Amino acid sequence: MAGGNRAGTDGRATSGGRSGFVRLTELLTGIEPGKTPINLSVGEPHHPMPDFVGPVLTRHLRDFGRYPMTRGAESFRVAVAAWLNRRYKLPRPVDPEREVIVLSGSREGLFLAAIAARRYTADRGDNPAVLLPNPFYMAYFAGARAAGCEPIALPATRATNFLPDYDAVPNELLARTVAVYLCSPANPQGAVLPREAIARIVKRARAAGTMIFADECYSEIWLGDEVPTGVLEVADGDFANILTFNSLSKRSSLPGLRCGFAAGDGDFLAAFTEFRNVAAPQVPVPIQEVAAAAYGDETHVQENRRLYRAKFDLADRILGQRYRYHRPDGGFFLWLDVTKLGGDEAAARDLWRKSGVRVVPGSYLGHTAPDGSNPGAGYIRAALVDDLASTEQALHRLAEYAG
Ligand SMILES: Cc1ncc(COP(=O)(O)O)c(C=O)c1O
Repeated sequence: MAGGNRAGTDGRATSGGRSGFVRLTELLTGIEPGKTPINLSVGEPHHPMPDFVGPVLTRHLRDFGRYPMTRGAESFRVAVAAWLNRRYKLPRPVDPEREVIVLSGSREGLFLAAIAARRYTADRGDNPAVLLPNPFYMAYFAGARAAGCEPIALPATRATNFLPDYDAVPNELLARTVAVYLCSPANPQGAVLPREAIARIVKRARAAGTMIFADECYSEIWLGDEVPTGVLEVADGDFANILTFNSLSKRSSLPGLRCGFAAGDGDFLAAFTEFRNVAAPQVPVPIQEVAAAAYGDETHVQENRRLYRAKFDLADRILGQRYRYHRPDGGFFLWLDVTKLGGDEAAARDLWRKSGVRVVPGSYLGHTAPDGSNPGAGYIRAALVDDLASTEQALHRLAEYAG
C-alpha cells in the first residue's frame, strides 16, 4: 500500500517490540552526564495538580471498601458525558449509560480495545490488520500484536505535515483492518488532524466495518488558535464504529491517578465491557470521584494550558531556527531534527554527555521497515513537562548543543 510499512508478526526487526525507555537506558549506560541532569525523556506532567484532589478523595475514603463496577461509577460516567457535551460540538449528547466507560488511564484501554475489536469486527480474513501512525504510542502496536493482527505503520513525516496519510490507505487494506488508531494532537510530533481528514477516514472505516480508535489524551493542550477536533464531532448522529480515548493524565496533570475513559459506540462498549469484566483493571470508586470533580472543572485546565504555552513561547525564542524547530499545534513535546548532528542516537548520547539533557531518540518511538527506514530516525523527542525555570535552562542547553 502507499507508504505503509508492514511490521510483520514475529516481533523482530522492529523497534515496536521493545520499550523505548529501556533502549534509552541501555544507550546511556556508562556515560556520565556533563551537567546536572535534566530529564526530558518522559511525558509525565509535573504541573501542580488541582487543589480539590485531596478533599474529594478524603470525602470518599469509605468507598475503598467496595469493589468498583468495571464499566464505571454512574457519577463518573455522567461527569464525562457532560464534559464531552460541553467540550465538543456533538451531533447529539453522549449517553452516560451506554456510551462511556471508565479506564485505568487510557493506555490499558488503547491496548485491550484492539483485542476486543478483533473479536467484534466482522470477518477480516486470514490476515487481519491494525493501522497506526508511525511514530506511535506503544500501546497501539502492542495491542495489534496481542490481537493477532498485522500492525501496519503509516509514516507521519515532515512531508505529510507529521500526520499519517489515511487517504492513501487502499480499500482492500481497510477491508481486512480491524481498527485504525488516530492520535491527535500527536505524540511525538504535536500535529493535529484536520476535521476533514478525520471525517474522511471515519466514513471509509464505517463503510468497511472497521473500528476507529482515537487517542485524544492531548486534546486539551493546544498551543495555537486551533482547538483540536474530537472524533465524536464528525459522527453523523450516531457513534457507530467510533471511540475516543482520553484521560486526566495530561488534561489535569494527574498521571498517577490512573483514570481515563473510552466513549462512543455503545454496542462496541457493551462487548468491550464484557471482555473487560474478566481482563481489565477496575478503577477504585474514590479515584473516579476525584476524576468526576476534575471533569467538572475547567479553571485548572486553562492554567495548565497557559503554562505549556509559556514554555513553547520560550522554545520559540531560545531555539529559533535550530533543529528545524517549529511550534507544534498541540501536546508538550519538542520534535527536533538532528540529522545534521549525527542522527538521533548520536545526538541523544552527546546531549547527555555534554549537557546532561536526557531525550529520546525518535527512532525508538517508531517502526523500522524492512528497508531500514524509520520516520522517527533523525529526530529527538523532548518533553516540556517541568516548571518554567528548569525548562528554560534545558532549552538553553539544547540551543547551545546545536550551536
Ligand atoms: C499518545 C499517548 N496516548 C496514551 C497515553 C497514556 O496515558 P494514560 O494511560 O496516562 O492515560 C500516553 C501517555 O504518555 C500518550 O502519550
